[in-house]
Amino acid sequence: MEIRPLKVRDIEGVRNLEVSCIREYFGEVLENKWEELPEDWKDGLGASSRKHFKAYLDSGLSFVAVEDDEVVGFIFAQMLHNICDEENLLWIENMGVHPYFRRNAIAYKLLRECVRKGREMGATVAHSMIQGDNVPSIMLHKKLGFFMDRREVALLDLRDENLRL
Ligand SMILES: CC(C)(COP(=O)(O)OP(=O)(O)OC[C@H]1O[C@@H](n2cnc3c(N)ncnc32)[C@H](O)[C@@H]1OP(=O)(O)O)[C@@H](O)C(=O)NCCC(=O)NCCS
Repeated sequence: MEIRPLKVRDIEGVRNLEVSCIREYFGEVLENKWEELPEDWKDGLGASSRKHFKAYLDSGLSFVAVEDDEVVGFIFAQMLHNICDEENLLWIENMGVHPYFRRNAIAYKLLRECVRKGREMGATVAHSMIQGDNVPSIMLHKKLGFFMDRREVALLDLRDENLRL
């Protein structure tokens, strides 16, 4: 198993894997109503979506785990600037490992590689998107030294046409 930077040719494999990880998550919260969700909405999900892939490719901070030429794990990250009192903040958007390959330290190696590279590129802090009930992900991050304080992000959908400002 090799951990290497994300390449253009990974698009199909990494897209399929990210969508299946997102679907796994939605399966739990939406009681498996994935099939009923609009296709164009699903197409826009994830860092590997058409709109976002290039940014994560160009960041130099996204990695894949490859076994026999198949993508079995991924991490998408980019550098953000002048945010949370930091000039350079490593933003980890999403990561996932194919269910068959889990508990083989693949996510640990992906996250470690991403953080190492981020630090090399000048990041002073790393932030990672984690759902509060995602125990495997929380344990993984803790293993690498991340901590979770009581901060949570409040969201407002600015595309909502009913939003009155
Ligand atoms: C979370 C996820 C990426 C972990 O991938 P993985 O390759 O299986 O993780 P690793 O084998 O590298 O595990 C590293 C550490 O994470 C923790 N961990 C991983 N899976 C765990 C689980 N099911 N339960 C508890 N802790 C877990 C452990 O501390 C583990 O160290 P250990 O094996 O020495 O106990 C994987 O379960 C996954 O893809 N889940 C679905 C997508 C997802 O939730 N992504 C995270 C979004 S932030």
